[in-house]
Amino acid sequence: MQTITDLVKVLEEAQALDQAGLTRLLTAPEAIPLYHAADRVRKRYVGDEVHLRGLIEFSNYCRRGCLYCGLRAGNTQIRRYRMTPAEILTRARYAVGQGLKTVVLQSGEDPHYTVEELCDIVRTLKKMDVAVTLSIGERSKDTYAALKEAGADRFLLRIETSNEQLYARMHPGMSYQNRVNCLYTLKELGYETGTGSLVGLPGQTPAMLAADLVFFKALDADMIGIGPFIPSPGTPLDHAAGGEVETVLKMMALARLLMPEINMPATTALSVKDRDGYRKGLSCGANVIMPNMGLSEYKKLYAVYPGKGEGFARSDEQMVKIQTVLQKLGRKVGQGYGFRVGR
Ligand code: 5AD
Repeated sequence: MQTITDLVKVLEEAQALDQAGLTRLLTAPEAIPLYHAADRVRKRYVGDEVHLRGLIEFSNYCRRGCLYCGLRAGNTQIRRYRMTPAEILTRARYAVGQGLKTVVLQSGEDPHYTVEELCDIVRTLKKMDVAVTLSIGERSKDTYAALKEAGADRFLLRIETSNEQLYARMHPGMSYQNRVNCLYTLKELGYETGTGSLVGLPGQTPAMLAADLVFFKALDADMIGIGPFIPSPGTPLDHAAGGEVETVLKMMALARLLMPEINMPATTALSVKDRDGYRKGLSCGANVIMPNMGLSEYKKLYAVYPGKGEGFARSDEQMVKIQTVLQKLGRKVGQGYGFRVGR
């Protein structure tokens, strides 16, 4: 039987490992060699720059019923909001003023905005000299194509879990196959495509998490976001156990080792679950942070999970905290758009 150190070495050199090996690394008690290898590979392939992506959560309306998510349509405990296109652009200008080179537009699956409206927003954003990322859920191929044509560069759509049975349980009325198809369509249309998973969903096993990593690699994902599941009030999983920080860090480290060139955030959920989450994430393979550029009144309402909108009432305080973390780690803010390297 190979030791953990042997397995990490094989993975670091070959940038590949089968599901059984990945499962073993996920369940091994000693994670330090794994974290160190991920940090080395991160440094070698994507360097010390940390790309900041300005996140604008423009609507918390959602037609879906994902069991874990506070924005699910069935949650009557939250107040809903929609930003107008003018409000979105004002926040984008603020982000640009902060020196950010990417704007991420995220919302629940909200049919309110027409494709033409969304395209107009994208076109205006592109005139601000930023990369534009969309995170607006499952849409038709035509819609994805129209938004790409309007100038969108990237798209985030987590698979959440690559296990079809668990996916079905967590997402009533949704189709696993359609989500997979969306991801491959986005790649085909030329988007830099991001996916990722939730760690700690009820019923999720280490073997399922290992399969998520295999899925990311097969897709040739450009970006990977991995965060802990945090139980959310007003959802059926309110009283479930949440995901563990160590498992998230192991997943991130493994993703970096399998796909050295990806862009990978230290997620907001990780920083909510652990006050040292950004630092830990950046030390285990991450090279991206997504500061929230929304208005504080809306941030509180974008209650995907509790604690999310509370940490930083003000966007400028958040930027200061991020700068401090980067300084301590000897890392620097990325100056470019932060596209995937080596393309
Ligand atoms: N805890 C942590 N992350 C969550 N998300 C949704 N609900 C939760 C939760 N309760 C994540 C999903 C989604 C992203 C925008 O937020 O993975 O893709």
